Amino acid sequence: MTGTLNIRRVAGALGAEITGVDLAQPLADDTIAAIRQALVEHQVIFFRDQDLTPAQQVAFGRRFGPLNIHPYVAGMADQPEVMEIIKEPSDRINFGGGWHSDMSFLETPAIGSILYAVELPEWGGDTLFASQAAAYDALSPGLKATLEGLNAVHSASREYSAQGASAQKRGSMNVAEADGYVGEYVHPMVLVHPETGRKALYVNPAFTLKIEGWKTSESKALLDYLFNHCRYEGFTCRFSWRPGSVAFWDNRSVWHFALNDYPGQRRHMRRVTVDPWPQVAKVAAAAE
Ligand code: SIN
Repeated sequence: MTGTLNIRRVAGALGAEITGVDLAQPLADDTIAAIRQALVEHQVIFFRDQDLTPAQQVAFGRRFGPLNIHPYVAGMADQPEVMEIIKEPSDRINFGGGWHSDMSFLETPAIGSILYAVELPEWGGDTLFASQAAAYDALSPGLKATLEGLNAVHSASREYSAQGASAQKRGSMNVAEADGYVGEYVHPMVLVHPETGRKALYVNPAFTLKIEGWKTSESKALLDYLFNHCRYEGFTCRFSWRPGSVAFWDNRSVWHFALNDYPGQRRHMRRVTVDPWPQVAKVAAAAE
């Protein structure tokens, strides 16, 4: 396989479908580089008709960085980096059913997520994606200047604590309750993409609690404004899954939302989540 991929954009703000590559095979470095280039350029990329075992999904994901082990959702027994996202016919609530960016509640958030469709409902179960780079671009120069240098506090407390929203959302998923204090981490509200230099808004309704140093009421007013702005349909694309479809999104510039519109049916996905490569300085420190 060479670095040549067939790439077709699917919407104005983000998203492209890639054909001509079998993700189950060991891929050449130039093919991986071309996929990575397509990811950062299009922010979310889609593949069809793949046939991936969990081990093959792990092998593919590891080409982009170390894989995350989710702190609250148990992975597969023999492949802990693979998270199964399942909604059974009897479940009312789905996992990922709200706008979010994966793992922004960690000190070092995940850079990408690779989701593979195993079993799908007869209808429904699409996923929406929203470009936070497009959302940033559309702000006025005045609001851009206001956001520059501001940080926001992110935490898993709202979703994963005993009182959190996902306490009611667990259904058949093997989700652990975050015990007590789950940690709060501060990230810039405007993220400069380390690979493209493009700016994107980096706040999300699931995990962003407040703006650092602002009163709660001030913070809520601006975050509510941004959360509304960020999901404008002109910034989005929608992916209709088939068994064997894969979506790979860049969490540094993309929100996503798993639609819950297939009552009484089963949906089964597998996700691996890619962390950034450890920085050389951190590796050196750990080795001491
Ligand atoms: C997720 O939030 O990772 C789940 C997305 C989906 O199931 O479509």
